[in-house]
Amino acid sequence: MNDIQKAQYNEKYKRAKRNGEKFFPDTLYKDLLIAIALFLLLVGLAAFIGVAAEPRADPSDTTYIPRPEWYFLFLFEMLKFFPGSIEWVGTTIIPGAAVIALLLLPFYDKNPNRHWKRRKFALTFMSVVVAAMVFLTIRAVITTPPQKDVGAVATTLPAKIAAGLDFYSVQCNECHGAEGEGGVIKGVKGLEGFKMKPINSQDEMYTRSDDTLYNIIEYGQPSLGMPPFGKAFGGELSRSDIGNLVTYLRYTWDNRVELPKEAAQTNAIPTLGPTDIPSYDVNIAPIVKRYCVSCHRPGKENNNYVMGSYADVMNSGDHKPNVVPGDLNSNLIRMIHREKIDAGGEMPPTKALSPDLVAIFERWVKAGAPEKPKK
Ligand code: HEC
Ligand code: HEC
Repeated sequence: MNDIQKAQYNEKYKRAKRNGEKFFPDTLYKDLLIAIALFLLLVGLAAFIGVAAEPRADPSDTTYIPRPEWYFLFLFEMLKFFPGSIEWVGTTIIPGAAVIALLLLPFYDKNPNRHWKRRKFALTFMSVVVAAMVFLTIRAVITTPPQKDVGAVATTLPAKIAAGLDFYSVQCNECHGAEGEGGVIKGVKGLEGFKMKPINSQDEMYTRSDDTLYNIIEYGQPSLGMPPFGKAFGGELSRSDIGNLVTYLRYTWDNRVELPKEAAQTNAIPTLGPTDIPSYDVNIAPIVKRYCVSCHRPGKENNNYVMGSYADVMNSGDHKPNVVPGDLNSNLIRMIHREKIDAGGEMPPTKALSPDLVAIFERWVKAGAPEKPKK
């Protein structure tokens, strides 16, 4: 800055100061107005729109890929250029240097010109930085694998109860029965013939708090024969899964709380009109999932009969086919009628299916055991 420029600048500064506004109250007032407006906007967004919930944090979940918010993605991406032992360059040196360079800006950039044509170097430099940030952000978005789909997170009470029922059917049914009724266990290694007490009783529900139930499921009761289900203990359930399961148990078995109507509807097994033809997809799959899959799924022996899909229901098992379209003497039908045959005994072992469910199976087999509903 030469002397003439300096004088001009000082003159301008004095003028501005003479006519200028005071920090208090003028500037403060303006800032305050904007701050309050922003605050109200945030309160409004939080109250009326909110943020979609993610599953509960779970340190034992190894499928979760941690990543920063989008506005820090470029920093995250930069780390990929500084792997391993030189990571500190990317995490500390470069961002640190950039922040210090900005802080010191007034001391080294004393160019008095404000017109962009006279600030070519600063402009070019900043453009390169911004372009690099945009590039890194885009690269990060493209190259980071999507979060493993954890499915829709249940946020409403009915959705939680429905999710809990699904976990119960798969994980708990084999030992505790579809309705928690207990009975003599069959087909579970180590517990063959064990007489399970009912866990759906008021005794159980009145004396166990949600936290207790949660812990029983997460840690199991290994000394009694109940395995742990928490992922951290080798089980298959995440923390939010267990939370949903507890909600399901509470609303289904505790008569002090009422199952919401909507939940009762989602959980209900579709009923059939007198002339409807049942199909696997609509009518059989929900029954199988609720009453059979727990023992008949991959990893369980039980005569190698897996019931996870139409094809497997029709054509797996040591005594396959267990379902012969049109034939009411099919193994499956005889076994749900609790006959003892070559393929095995009564199914499900602990408690008979209700007559209307047995009737759905029969009508389905009689109609040729179709997979898809007929239009
Ligand atoms: C491999 C068999 C098995 C499976 C699967 C199983 N449990 Fe258990 N569970 C047991 C046994 C055995 C007991 C002890 C019963 C007893 O004390 O008579 C038990 C006890 C319980 C109790 C009662 C605890 C108490 O202190 O009264 C609850 C509640 C329970 N289980 C819930 C569940 C839930 C929910 C699941 C599914 C996530 C599940 N269990 C899966 C075997 C199992
Ligand atoms: C508690 C565990 C358990 C549940 C629940 C269960 N099963 Fe089974 N299932 C078994 C066992 C164990 C066998 C082996 C035969 C035996 O020991 O009776 C078996 C065998 C079968 C077989 C013979 C398979 C073959 O090819 O030999 C059929 C069919 C069958 N089950 C149907 C069902 C149906 C349908 C349901 C649901 C309504 C069901 N099971 C629920 C334990 C279970």
